[in-house]
Amino acid sequence: MDFKDLSFENAPEINTPLPGPVSREFLNFQSENEGNAVSYPRGLPMAIKRGKGATIEDVDGNLYIDCFGGAGVINVGHSNPEVINAAREQLDNFTHSLDIPNPPRKKMVENLRKVLPPELTRIFFGAPTGSDAVECAVKLAKFNTKKYPVIAFEGSYHGMTSTALSLCSGDFFKEDFLPLMPEIHFAPYSYCYRCPFKKDPENCEIDCALYLEHILEDPHSGVTKPAAIIIEAIQGEGGSIVPHEGFIPKLREICDKYNVLFVIDEIQAGFCRTGKMFSFEHTGTVPDIMTMSKALGGVGFPIAAIAYKEKLDTWTPGKHIGTFRGNVIAYAGGAAGIDFMLSSNLAEHTAKTGKVMLGALKELEKDSDFVGEARGKGLMLGVEFVKDKATKEPAPEFASKVRNACHKRGVLIEIGGHYFNVARFLPPLVITEYLAKKAAELFADAVKEVEKSI
Ligand SMILES: Cc1ncc(COP(=O)(O)O)c(C=O)c1O
Repeated sequence: MDFKDLSFENAPEINTPLPGPVSREFLNFQSENEGNAVSYPRGLPMAIKRGKGATIEDVDGNLYIDCFGGAGVINVGHSNPEVINAAREQLDNFTHSLDIPNPPRKKMVENLRKVLPPELTRIFFGAPTGSDAVECAVKLAKFNTKKYPVIAFEGSYHGMTSTALSLCSGDFFKEDFLPLMPEIHFAPYSYCYRCPFKKDPENCEIDCALYLEHILEDPHSGVTKPAAIIIEAIQGEGGSIVPHEGFIPKLREICDKYNVLFVIDEIQAGFCRTGKMFSFEHTGTVPDIMTMSKALGGVGFPIAAIAYKEKLDTWTPGKHIGTFRGNVIAYAGGAAGIDFMLSSNLAEHTAKTGKVMLGALKELEKDSDFVGEARGKGLMLGVEFVKDKATKEPAPEFASKVRNACHKRGVLIEIGGHYFNVARFLPPLVITEYLAKKAAELFADAVKEVEKSI
């Protein structure tokens, strides 16, 4: 399918100094009235008027290529007409249902059934954020195993509510709020660019996975038998990290051996983002429980869910509840979003466009002294900046300068990674090859500009 007509034709086009005068008014209003924890407009100083496909117009009429996609929400494109029509139709009927059945909810479950692996027979909707799906997954694991500890991974991001935050590895997020949930432990992720075991991916024995096995096997590891491990099959906020291809299969094997539930968090990597419907499909494994949110709601209608194996459906009514566990507009829009993903072969388009974009970004590994690694899968891409390629000393200031230089050129990106030194690309998946190449070209210009200023 040609997605060209879904986006603004002229993007990128910047006609005012940035932020433009009208954006500035909105930003001032926001900083005078909203709380200081507001964060995205600090790196992306603008006010949004409209979104279309993979492009955004700000309130001053400037057009941008959106390589951030609402943090991985807008997979089917801003204002996707099929999603909007389905949601609009539902608006006239009714908008809130708790968990009482209704036609859009049924359609959503039917559509999820089409894309979920057959092993995950049960679907459960909780509150409308990804964090709640994580809470829910952990509760289900504890309920079934009657065990308490959970093992997460270095570089992980799972959300902001108490359990979800406990499972995040980043000190920035947690340090002011300790203590959080007890008995959460962290194991190394397969982050080959910065392997904690100093191994080379070509000839390692996936030592990071073996280390997890050691934790589970050794009664003196300090970790009592966990209920579950929770992992992103491709890490998002941690810096778009694609693990060694043997890592996730090895973890699955270890979980089976030690009778630990295997939870995969697909909140960011799910729904075609990595070139498959779900990122675990690259690994030949199926989790016991998976989490979903973000793109599940079509174009940002809030919704979250878990899917899990039949044998785990032991909990009793009311064990996980919430007022907003049934956003009917999100069901209608989200179900139409899944229809769109399937009818437009969005996963295939993503895989193809992602290869082109990554190819262009990879060129920078040769061309720039500050690009340590360009990596990713599908359209979940990252470029890690370092001060020195030999020592790999992280270059977070460089990364944030590149983000600003991209913004000026009409390309929206975000920063993540262990050291906030990774430029992250999560464009709407309907981005055309032309716009993807253009964004990569402007990103390369931005890197050169920042390099020259040093
Ligand atoms: C992998 C992952 N899990 C969980 C979450 C939390 O989702 P939410 O922000 O909707 O609570 C995020 C958000 O970025 C995420 O990337």
